[in-house]
Amino acid sequence: MSDLADLDYCANMYLVEIEEGTGYKNAEPMALDLGKWSSISEFATQASKTLDRLDILVENAAVATPGNYVPTEDGWETMLQVNSLGPAMHVLLLLPIIMNTAKVHSVDPRIVVVSSGAALSANIGSDAMAAPNTLEMLSSKAYCKTEEVFANRYHLSKMLNVMLVRKLAEHLPQNIVPVTLSPGFCVSGLRRWAVGEVAEQFKKMEDESAYTSEEGSRHIIYSAIGGKDKELRGAFMSYLEPVEISAWMLSDEGKKAEDKTWVEMIELFGKLDDRIPGIVAQYLKA
Ligand SMILES: NC(=O)c1ccc[n+]([C@@H]2O[C@H](COP(=O)([O-])OP(=O)(O)OC[C@H]3O[C@@H](n4cnc5c(N)ncnc54)[C@H](OP(=O)(O)O)[C@@H]3O)[C@@H](O)[C@H]2O)c1
Repeated sequence: MSDLADLDYCANMYLVEIEEGTGYKNAEPMALDLGKWSSISEFATQASKTLDRLDILVENAAVATPGNYVPTEDGWETMLQVNSLGPAMHVLLLLPIIMNTAKVHSVDPRIVVVSSGAALSANIGSDAMAAPNTLEMLSSKAYCKTEEVFANRYHLSKMLNVMLVRKLAEHLPQNIVPVTLSPGFCVSGLRRWAVGEVAEQFKKMEDESAYTSEEGSRHIIYSAIGGKDKELRGAFMSYLEPVEISAWMLSDEGKKAEDKTWVEMIELFGKLDDRIPGIVAQYLKA
């Protein structure tokens, strides 16, 4: 997306789709490019002026660009920024509205981060964990140069979604319900990068076993409004049930990775937006 005008255009296009598909006429667009730190900050500023409550936040956006190393305008590897870091910063900047909603309206808001079953097969290599800054190392072109590292990048970006939700559950009060999920294998625009044989294989898989996007979205809706807060809080949901995360994520190594990337994210976001240190101090218990 090149600029705000493009974002506004896309948002309005989706509004028409929502209205035509559901008959609902009160949706309002707000432009957001998760691959641009300044857009995330601007969104939060706009939200603080226009949203009087925020009961459910769904971080759904993602891209898959496994063929090419593509840096964002901010210089970060695109899947890492759009799928993992951008949504994390977005959640943190919206915490003041979410917390205020919980307090003023006596509700238990949900923060829904859409992950994937792919998260369960990911890990962070010991070389990246040994780096002074793991996220910067993961993002660097030099690190992504081996096919194996980059082929697993989407999976890793989705694993960071799970780690984010686990950290939010650890640090936020009990009346805030962070949850992550897999929507299942769906026909969507996510595999638009695929060409030739790979595209044919995906097409075959989609024809044989994929949900429609609408069917996949029901998994997201369940996490947003279904089930019991206690069961969903901090959970990874698959087929509408909380399921165990991978052995690697539960291992000492996985826990270290979760802690290290969390600290690095908070440090990074604090440098990008001066509201972050105050939000962390006020809303996230140490
Ligand atoms: N499809 C599957 O089989 C599958 C399986 C497991 C998990 N998931 C997860 O499901 C979620 C939805 O993906 P999908 O399958 O519906 O893919 P999709 O059709 O490609 O939709 C991705 C969405 O992300 C938005 N997006 C992309 N880049 C963005 C950016 N920089 N800033 C803001 N929004 C951006 C896109 O907006 P524009 O259209 O405006 O670009 C689009 O609405 C993702 O988190 C994905 O990882 C999908």
